[in-house]
Amino acid sequence: MNDPQSLGDTSPEEFRRQLHELADWIADFRQHIGSLRVAPNDKPGAILAALPAEPPEEGEPFEEILGDVDRVIVPGMVHWSHPMFLGYFGWTTTAPAILGEIITAPLNVNAMTWRTCPAATELETVVVDWIRQWVHLPQEFGGVVYDTASVGVMHALAVAREEAAPSTRKRGLVGAGAPVFRIYVSEQAHSSAEKAAIALGLGEENVQRVPTDAQFRMDPSVLREMITRDVRDNFRPLAVIATVGTTSTASVDPVPEISKICRENKMWLHIDGAYGAGFSILPENKSLTVGWSEADSIVVNPHKSLFVPLDFSVLYVRDLDRLRRVFTLVPEYLRGDTVEAQKNYMDYGIQLGRRFRALKAWVIFRSFGREGMAARLREHVRLANLFANWIKDDARFKLAASVSLGVVCFRFVGSVTGGGDAGPRSAPSATEDKLDQLNSEIVEKINASGRAYLTQTKLRARTVMRIGLGNVLTTEDHLRKAWEMIRETAEAL
Ligand SMILES: Cc1ncc(COP(=O)(O)O)c(C=O)c1O
Repeated sequence: MNDPQSLGDTSPEEFRRQLHELADWIADFRQHIGSLRVAPNDKPGAILAALPAEPPEEGEPFEEILGDVDRVIVPGMVHWSHPMFLGYFGWTTTAPAILGEIITAPLNVNAMTWRTCPAATELETVVVDWIRQWVHLPQEFGGVVYDTASVGVMHALAVAREEAAPSTRKRGLVGAGAPVFRIYVSEQAHSSAEKAAIALGLGEENVQRVPTDAQFRMDPSVLREMITRDVRDNFRPLAVIATVGTTSTASVDPVPEISKICRENKMWLHIDGAYGAGFSILPENKSLTVGWSEADSIVVNPHKSLFVPLDFSVLYVRDLDRLRRVFTLVPEYLRGDTVEAQKNYMDYGIQLGRRFRALKAWVIFRSFGREGMAARLREHVRLANLFANWIKDDARFKLAASVSLGVVCFRFVGSVTGGGDAGPRSAPSATEDKLDQLNSEIVEKINASGRAYLTQTKLRARTVMRIGLGNVLTTEDHLRKAWEMIRETAEAL
């Protein structure tokens, strides 16, 4: 045990052998992923039962550990990279992404400050600026990489709060005599707005949900009325979050109109482009970006639509220094590593230790180029529209929303007519309740089969099925199989 030879790391020769073994394992996994079940069929607790509860007392050979990955972990997973995974936004990984993650591991970076890793800091600046150019944001926007969009919106609202109630950072909301702030999002917006309000002490109930139009877009005239009413009732309208690519239908809020309302009321405009913003790298989607230059902040999730595996989310703020002013804080033990007048990313958020996320994105972006990514996104949009056409050709199904980007929401209506593009609304409610149940059952049955994976959501209180195209391995053939499966499952019910 105390033999100095046995201390330290694995020997270089042994490590090299293990790496070669792992390289083959990764290549095999990737090549054969389509033959795995998409989702496990185990009952909750099966993984726990298959693993020892006691921690290991002695070290084990790598082969044994990898064997357990094959035996317990891989069959216990939902495979988000599987070509038949059509859930959420069809999030993907790619070979360049895997290579990027492998390169990152041995570098063992902590990019707290420029000095603690100049390359990671400067590469983050480069990659964030590439994305800024791709999504057509003006140069005055600076960005920072976080893990998720949820963390991004929390930071954006922290800046909005500080600017509306200066010295909240120092004295807290009560100490700063802050009013009761209100934040407005569409009723289709992601719940990260409420989570941010909880974390910032703004209060979940002060996130007000604005109704949407027939296309599930925020209705600016109602937004205006809600703001007027809140001002009259002594609330202070703080921010609007406009979504470009909502979670259920990928609808796009009318940013220019919302931006005008924000300007008139001196409110912060945050754009949640977590999913949709990435699609603006397609020249034919440039119109998506109208009004973005007026925003105070915007979040873009390359881990949803730009082929970077989880996690990688960028928050852009118009004048990034506004973010730094709220979060910079240098403890004595870090002073020596913060002396240069360089960017220290720890100043732009609550996180101190920061991993090297920019490297994987850099490898992916260089491997595909904008053209390669655009071509793949374009294919996903084509597949989404193709799927929508199949639905339109089958009277037993209805589109539940217009197809937007890579997302299709649809509803099995059987022989009942009703619904339509703006959402299923018309059949008698007992029938609609029954259809809700059937739609849910179709998704449950397909997911339980392990052959494909879909999601379900509610639109106008009705259950609909939903697919998201975004996986580089998904082809027209896979999609056709999924459609057959949906039709057969619906018929069998
Ligand atoms: C529109 C939108 N915004 C924000 C989020 C939250 O993303 P993250 O998981 O990066 O926090 C999601 C997640 O699906 C989303 O759909």
